[in-house]
Amino acid sequence: MLLSVRQRRILADMGIPVWRSRDTSATGIGPPGAEVSAAGVPAAAPEVGSGAQDSAVETLDWEALEARVRGCQACTELARERTQTVFGVGDRRARWLFIGEAPGAEEDRRGEPFVGRAGQLLDNMLLALGLDRHHDVFIANVLKCRPPGNRDPKPEESAACRGYLDRQIALIQPEVIVALGRIAAQSLLESEEPLGRLRGSEHRYQGVPLVATYHPAYLLRKPGDKARAWQDLQRARSCLA
Ligand code: URA
Repeated sequence: MLLSVRQRRILADMGIPVWRSRDTSATGIGPPGAEVSAAGVPAAAPEVGSGAQDSAVETLDWEALEARVRGCQACTELARERTQTVFGVGDRRARWLFIGEAPGAEEDRRGEPFVGRAGQLLDNMLLALGLDRHHDVFIANVLKCRPPGNRDPKPEESAACRGYLDRQIALIQPEVIVALGRIAAQSLLESEEPLGRLRGSEHRYQGVPLVATYHPAYLLRKPGDKARAWQDLQRARSCLA
């Protein structure tokens, strides 16, 4: 894999060794010589309506789905507190689907996932893979609305929103899903295992290979784990046809 100067800088920043081959000008990643580079069942919570749990969602096209999400009032508290819904961004025929937990304050303001500091790191991780958020990548969240105060999504909220994500997956038909962080991974895999146990194993969601990795916000706090995240992304890349 040939790397640009910017990609090399990002990889170096992620703590990933970058080598230059002696006999060619090719630049690689990793050791010299080897290019390596829950959700719960909805409790009948009074404040959460049916949301995406309506079989009609399974038939919606992109425009109808986006409109449906925009008008969703299923989670009364989230609908009341949000500035806007955050549908997702990217290539609607992408091979890569990245899924985070929920929009934060900046995402709620701008209507796009991962646009804060964590988003900048995600963009750099994509760049290191030779990708960007508009080409061959779609980025979405388990929840389409910001939980007030950036609290964790409630299981009944994740369940109410799941049909929207599932419809997005059915429309995109990605070749690999990368779950960003514990909350997204546990929710998608309906697991209570810690992220450390979910990383490194083969999973599937909706029949699509799923790789769990660290959330970029965590990596901002613990940059020493960036190299592990890079290993996860390499594993995800190996899932591509
Ligand atoms: N964290 C997430 O999980 N999703 C976003 O869109 C932003 C931050």
